[in-house]
Parts: sequence; C-alpha cells; structure tokens
Amino acid sequence: AEAVWGSCLAQALYMTADFAGSVAAFDAAERLEPLPVNAALTRAQAAAFAGMETGPVEAALDLYGQLAGPQAGDAVQLAREAFAVFTAFERLDAARAVGAWLERQAPPDVIQAYEARVLDDPSVTRAPADYVEALFDDFAERFDHQLVEMLDYRAPAELAGMLERYQTRFERVLDLGCGTGLSAEPLARFGGTLTGVDLSRAMLERAAARGGYAELVQADALAFLAGRPAAFDLVFAADVLIYFGDLAALFETVAAALTEGGYFVFSTELAEDGWQVLPSGRFAHARAYVEAVAGPRFEVLEMVPTALRREGHSTLAGGLYVLRRKA
Ligand SMILES: C[S@@+](CC[C@H](N)C(=O)[O-])C[C@H]1O[C@@H](n2cnc3c(N)ncnc32)[C@H](O)[C@@H]1O
Repeated sequence: AEAVWGSCLAQALYMTADFAGSVAAFDAAERLEPLPVNAALTRAQAAAFAGMETGPVEAALDLYGQLAGPQAGDAVQLAREAFAVFTAFERLDAARAVGAWLERQAPPDVIQAYEARVLDDPSVTRAPADYVEALFDDFAERFDHQLVEMLDYRAPAELAGMLERYQTRFERVLDLGCGTGLSAEPLARFGGTLTGVDLSRAMLERAAARGGYAELVQADALAFLAGRPAAFDLVFAADVLIYFGDLAALFETVAAALTEGGYFVFSTELAEDGWQVLPSGRFAHARAYVEAVAGPRFEVLEMVPTALRREGHSTLAGGLYVLRRKA
C-alpha cells in the first residue's frame, strides 16, 4: 500500500509539473516494489521533462529512451508534449529549447513553424489559417473530452444563458468557429436555423455527427462572413477570438454579416492592456480594447469576467460579451 501511495504522490507531482519531485517519488516507490509499466513510463517522461529544464534536450530524450526501454514512444511526439506543458506552465526557456530542437527535426510542420515564431515575431496579428486547420484536425478526436471533462470548459452554455436575458428567439444563427459543435445544444433554445463555419474538417465532421446544424461550411471566418452580407441575426463565437489578435477586421465583417439590431456574442481570454499574443500561440484582449474596437458598430450590452478553463496551475481569466449591432 505504501508503494501505491508513493506512486500516486509521484503522479500528482507530475501533474503539477514538479518533474524532479515526481522522479524522486517514483524512485522511492520503486524501492518498495517494482513499478507497474504505466508508472515506469510516466517516470521516464518526468525524468525527460526535468532534464529538458536543466540541460540539453538531446540528453533528456536519450534518458527517456533508456528509462522507457522498449515501451518508449516517439521522441518528436514527446518533445511536442513537453513544449505544450512548458508553455502552459510558462517555463519559456525550456519551451524555447524544445521548440528549437523540434525545428531541427526536418521538416517542421505548420504547427511547429507558428509556435516557434509567435513569441518573437511582432508581425503576428492572428493565428494563420493553415496553423488553425492543422492544429484542430489533430486535436478533434480529443477535443470534447479534454475541454469539457478535463478543463471544465463551459463558455457555450454561459454565453447562451447571458444572451437569453436580452432576446429569446433568433431566426438565422451563425456558430462562428463551431468546432465539434458544443454550442449547438445551448443555442437550440433560440430556435431558427443554425449554420456552423470552421477551418478544420475534422472538427466539422464531429459537429455533423452531433447534429443541430442546418449547414456546416469549411472556411475561414473572415472570408465566410464577407460572403454573407446581412445574413444573420446572431453571430456566436465561443473560444474563437483567441485566434485573432487585432479584432478590427473581424468586428467589421461580423457587423456587415449581421442584420440591424443583430447580436454578436463571444468569449475572450483577458489581457491587461490592448491585445497580446500568449506563449500558447493564442491571443488575449483587454476589456477596454474590445469596447474601443466594438464602439463604432456595436453597443456593448454586457461583459462578464469568467474562468474560461483550467490551464497549468490555475484557471484562465476570460470575458464573456454580449454586443448588439447599431443601426
Ligand atoms: C477552441 S475551439 C472552440 C470550438 C467551439 N466554438 C466550442 O466552443 O467548443 C476554436 C475553433 O475555432 C476554429 N477557428 C479558429 N480560427 C478560425 C478562423 N479564422 N476561421 C474559422 N474557424 C476558426 C478552430 O478551427 C476551432 O475549431
């Protein structure tokens, strides 16, 4: 029982990104009895991550190979996971070192290319379409489980609940960046026909399987909106503005796609000031910035600060907005 307890402690330390502590706890548990295969693999991974924080990435990957033995997973995959963990926990030096190693593994894919340049390139004002598409094609299968069950993501239901206090019926609804269709059910209460648009085919396939959409379109948000003037009385965008930095063009095209008095409802990650790109490659926006960009075309009816989802040690601060298009 003591060995099991020790393994549990080691897993917990791993989850909180104390990788050296996790290895020490696994070692202590192993002195009592041999580690089960899964625990031994987690120890190998913890040892590799701890090594990446203190020394060369290659050496850490070698160590992983030795410790994991024949069960070892792919090194590039492990490095990608390390990159995600280090950015989530804001260990940017380690993230950069792993990013540089990944870049040397030819050829870098679009995801790696964007992640490597995003922190240091001031010309990045939105996530590129090919990056978003590749990222979500890759993520689609795990998205619902990870966001809803692991990360406590509830923005679609919260946004729909806010909107309902202003208007209870909409005729033509656009779910912008609809993903796997998590918003379809919360939006059903408003009636009308629901269109979903998204860059990722794999996400759209899941939305189609979930149901609730009259139409699903694979397109970039801006291009799609530009082709549908005055077509919707509600544009709903849950967790999508995080892929846009500068919001001016997006707000302008949303306004043009809405009928007069139509609603634009969305969530953002919160920034202190203006908009900024985060180590995750996503973008955050200050309330004052959103209000300033919205001002010419929208009335901001409500903004509610919220915890968007869990990230690293804490929750991610976000904002939920209800806007109405001016006449
Ligand atoms: C975090 S997911 C949120 C999905 C869904 N709205 C939800 O709340 O579950 C973001 C989605 O926005 C899509 N997306 C991001 N930028 C986009 C763009 N410029 N045009 C169309 N879709 C975009 C992504 O493909 C992804 O499916």
